[in-house]
Amino acid sequence: MAIKVRKLSYGLGASITGVDLRSPLDDATMADVRKAWLDHLVVVFPDQVLTPEQQIAFGKRFGPLDDHQAAPFYRHPEYPEIYLITNHKIGGRPSETKDTGRMWHSDHSFTTRPTMATMLYCREIPSVGGDTMLTNMYMAYESLSDAMKTVLDRLEAVHDVANYHANNPYFRDRDTGQLTEMKKLSPPVAQPVVRVHPETGRKALFVNEGTTTQFVGMTSEESRALLEFLFEHSVRPEFTYRHAWKVNDLLMWDNRCTMHKALADYTHDQPRHMHRLTVLGTPCGRSYEGDTPPR
Ligand code: SIN
Repeated sequence: MAIKVRKLSYGLGASITGVDLRSPLDDATMADVRKAWLDHLVVVFPDQVLTPEQQIAFGKRFGPLDDHQAAPFYRHPEYPEIYLITNHKIGGRPSETKDTGRMWHSDHSFTTRPTMATMLYCREIPSVGGDTMLTNMYMAYESLSDAMKTVLDRLEAVHDVANYHANNPYFRDRDTGQLTEMKKLSPPVAQPVVRVHPETGRKALFVNEGTTTQFVGMTSEESRALLEFLFEHSVRPEFTYRHAWKVNDLLMWDNRCTMHKALADYTHDQPRHMHRLTVLGTPCGRSYEGDTPPR
């Protein structure tokens, strides 16, 4: 099957058409899809009418899937691999995932097995808004001066999910069961500030405003100015792509070289309902107990 790949923006993103994800792709088509995804960092497959089984089967072609033990309440009731990002009530209670992802982040960077790929499948979307933004972290790194690259290459940074909840205005005043549980399951980790992509070998910046709190070996005050510069620099408009969803879009991004953010460009009086699936990554980073910088 010949796929058609169309670039969607300067920074990152492409659409892939000419495939029907309801049935298994042959190995040659899979290789083309994987190449397009590695080249463009985020790909959208429009007009895919998928059951959870079909989304899961496609996801498994990329690797083992997360079964979301860390946040079981928002798993699909029948399919633990599918996590619901929704503003529908769940179990009769308001959804705690309706404001998920409002700060720039890379999925599960706060663990020592950060997510490789995320597949977000749109089931319902407001008539306007509900967009997702993504940014190219290779470009963010490559556009820095050589002197700054040299400094960053040898640093680690602390990632802590508690920071996400403390600084996110949507969560700050609502310490819910899910957030408390996530903090317990995920103590702070140290991650390289510059990550070498295990498949492409390219270097990407790996800090984000959601979970990165400080550089290892520095205080948070010493770290703040440089981190703030990097957060701002990473999302320069020319590095980004804004996805305006249509029902039945399947969007797939590479968390090893991108960040993303769910925009608050709509109100919850219209439904937004997504099936998210995450492919486990390879180990990266280490547990952090306030120790010294790498030599
Ligand atoms: C996420 O951050 O995983 C959710 C993104 C979105 O809902 O647009």
